Amino acid sequence: MTVRDPIRAEMLSFRPNAIAQVAVGNIGDPGIIPLWFGETDLVTPAFIRDAAKQALDDGLTFYVTPGGHQRLRTAIQDWTARWYGVTPAMERIWVPGAAMLCIVTALQTCVNTGDEVVVLTPMWPNISQAVEATGGTPRYVRLDHDAAKGEWALDLNKIEAAIGPRTKALFIGSPGNPTGWVISDDEIKALIEISRRKGVAIIADEVYSVLFYEGKRAPSFIDHASEDDNVFIVNSFSKAWAMTGWRVGWLVAPRRLAPAMAQLSVSNNTGATVFAQFGAVAALEQGDPFIAEMVERCRRGRDMVADFVAGQNRLSWVKPKGAFYAYVAVDGLKDSIGFAKNLLATTKVGVAPGAAFASGEGDTRDESYLRLCFAQDPKRLGEALERIGKALLA
Ligand SMILES: Cc1ncc(COP(=O)(O)O)c(C=O)c1O
Repeated sequence: MTVRDPIRAEMLSFRPNAIAQVAVGNIGDPGIIPLWFGETDLVTPAFIRDAAKQALDDGLTFYVTPGGHQRLRTAIQDWTARWYGVTPAMERIWVPGAAMLCIVTALQTCVNTGDEVVVLTPMWPNISQAVEATGGTPRYVRLDHDAAKGEWALDLNKIEAAIGPRTKALFIGSPGNPTGWVISDDEIKALIEISRRKGVAIIADEVYSVLFYEGKRAPSFIDHASEDDNVFIVNSFSKAWAMTGWRVGWLVAPRRLAPAMAQLSVSNNTGATVFAQFGAVAALEQGDPFIAEMVERCRRGRDMVADFVAGQNRLSWVKPKGAFYAYVAVDGLKDSIGFAKNLLATTKVGVAPGAAFASGEGDTRDESYLRLCFAQDPKRLGEALERIGKALLA
């Protein structure tokens, strides 16, 4: 007799993603220059750390309202008003944990087992893994690489064509990881129109919104969506404020979902860690100068990669408009995981293989790419690029 397996099929089929396949066993090794993950080498600034310490000393160790501490939600309102000129209603602001938990929460509101989510690629692999973990199936639409213009380009017709009867949501990351592509205001308006007409939600991942090189901040869905649109806007403290380990981000959700969001918040985590939320308040209230420094540091890293790519005849890229990644194509490369593993072994530089960002299994278009995070100390970044250059010649 065969015993029924109670474990969901998705759980049994998960494999480590391609970045993990390269990094496993090597994370934290001080001899490695790690450019493989999406984080800067800067420690969180002291004024943010001090605010969290103060919260602990003030005894802020108890449960708070599951959507987030009122003080933080108010700070999010004020920061959003300052950066975007829009003040989202308090009932729309949620702080479940980091952006990843915001994304999972948004997926939980709309995805039933067997439903589809259109994911715009190349995309950070954790997103399709989260879709699968909630029982959904990712349907991939790839940005076109317009070589003539030297740009990544969104084809809205492809998005429309990918929407079927079981499609519940579109996942759009802008500024994009790994491409640095940035959506335009017109494209945002068109996607909101598609969302209304076709009855699909939009999950707008804007965690790199202020790491933007062509203005104060990237175009945002908050500029165009009404509070009743089925649009979820995700942001994070991880990137712009160097707080990856804090696990705090926020979600602006449709207003009518406030009771559901409160319920999901309780079921998932009862909100982010309270003293970390107070670090986040300091980040929003005092952190604008730090963001400006961070953008300049990243811009410098981007320029260094631009010079490096220009000097290597096997390399090409689209200069990113936002975020802090270089997505670099290596002429002739067919096995990005093998190359990244070999690069690590021979040069001690950790990069993410393009295979990680592919549009589903069997899609080989990203195999010739490598992604590296340039939000690093210029000396170390320079050293890493020099070693990669030598490896490319070998
Ligand atoms: C596009 C994108 N979304 C979400 C996240 C997750 O951010 P958090 O650390 O807040 O979970 C990342 C982190 O790399 C990311 O690149």
